[in-house]
Amino acid sequence: MTAELVTFEEALALNTLSPSHELVQVVRGRRSGIAIIVALHSTALGPAAGGCRIAHYPGPGAAVADALRLAAAMTEKNALAGLRHGGGKTVVALPAAERPSGAERTALLHDVGDTIQALGGRYVTGPDVGSGPADMTVIGERTAHVCCRPVEDGGSGDSSLHTARGTLAALGAVAQEAFGSPELRGLTVGVIGLGAVGGRLARLLERAGARLIVTDTAPAARRAAAELGATWVDPDDALAAEVDILVPAALGGLLTAHTVPRLRCAAVAGPANNQLDTPATAELLAARGILWAPDVVVSAGGVIHATGVELRHEPEEETAGRLTGIADTLREVFRIARDQGSTPARAAAELAARRVREGVLSLSGEVAP
Ligand code: PHE
Repeated sequence: MTAELVTFEEALALNTLSPSHELVQVVRGRRSGIAIIVALHSTALGPAAGGCRIAHYPGPGAAVADALRLAAAMTEKNALAGLRHGGGKTVVALPAAERPSGAERTALLHDVGDTIQALGGRYVTGPDVGSGPADMTVIGERTAHVCCRPVEDGGSGDSSLHTARGTLAALGAVAQEAFGSPELRGLTVGVIGLGAVGGRLARLLERAGARLIVTDTAPAARRAAAELGATWVDPDDALAAEVDILVPAALGGLLTAHTVPRLRCAAVAGPANNQLDTPATAELLAARGILWAPDVVVSAGGVIHATGVELRHEPEEETAGRLTGIADTLREVFRIARDQGSTPARAAAELAARRVREGVLSLSGEVAP
């Protein structure tokens, strides 16, 4: 057993990796033996909300780093969406590329459920890359702090359509800022990733009259592309496709010092989390005159809908209003960036920090006599 314990130095390094996080929990699943990381970045505005990512990582360090980044992004996402929720994320670090299924998957999800339950409601999970509504039902066998179980199991179901809807609203604000009109009809839009969110978004864009160029690493997605009447490009060429708006809808880290010079678009805006490899990449985009819509604003539709229905029990119109409100928030971010001569990335971070501060003040006001 002793061999499993980290040294004091390792524990300290973990803890100081980001002094800004409230808690980083790293456990080895009792049943599965797999490393599960729950990062709580902030609960200042309320219980942290953020999905459960199940993915293969080269090692535990990379998984912890991803959890920290994703959790911090959720604090910004939830604050910018006006939600009384902090930010957190679960990362399940699979030791191999293939995803567990059957009894192995159930054991893993029960381990995740126990880990979340031990946090006593400070964190609520939901689906993310590698997990879906059916998995939430299994997690829900061990904890009540889970969103997006299928409707027949008492949850609000798949959140990806709502993330896609929120993204569509955001693209209207992007078109307005870049081309002077929110109209998407006639624009050429490149969608990278036709998964749960990207596939639905591509359908919404097609209905809105956009011309589509699409790609996915799964060759089977070609059929979906053909049904949409979209032009297929290989994943390697998608980044450099000549489009009006490029939409990252797959894994993060797409925008780097290496990829930004290759872009041939006026704007980049999509639902993928953590698109910039480092914050400085936002300056490279700005220097090339490419408008970037911060993913923390664009991708909030899923968490807005799930928490609205399941945790706040909002009427449908209120949740719908928050979804279209994504466009208003984005317009405000662009305005701040323009006024201050900064980037949308910095403007969004500032606005999020301000919303957390103001939210905390108004929360303490609410409990004062
Ligand atoms: N995983 C999604 C996100 O990161 C959506 C989600 C999170 C949905 C938490 C419900 C609860 O925003």
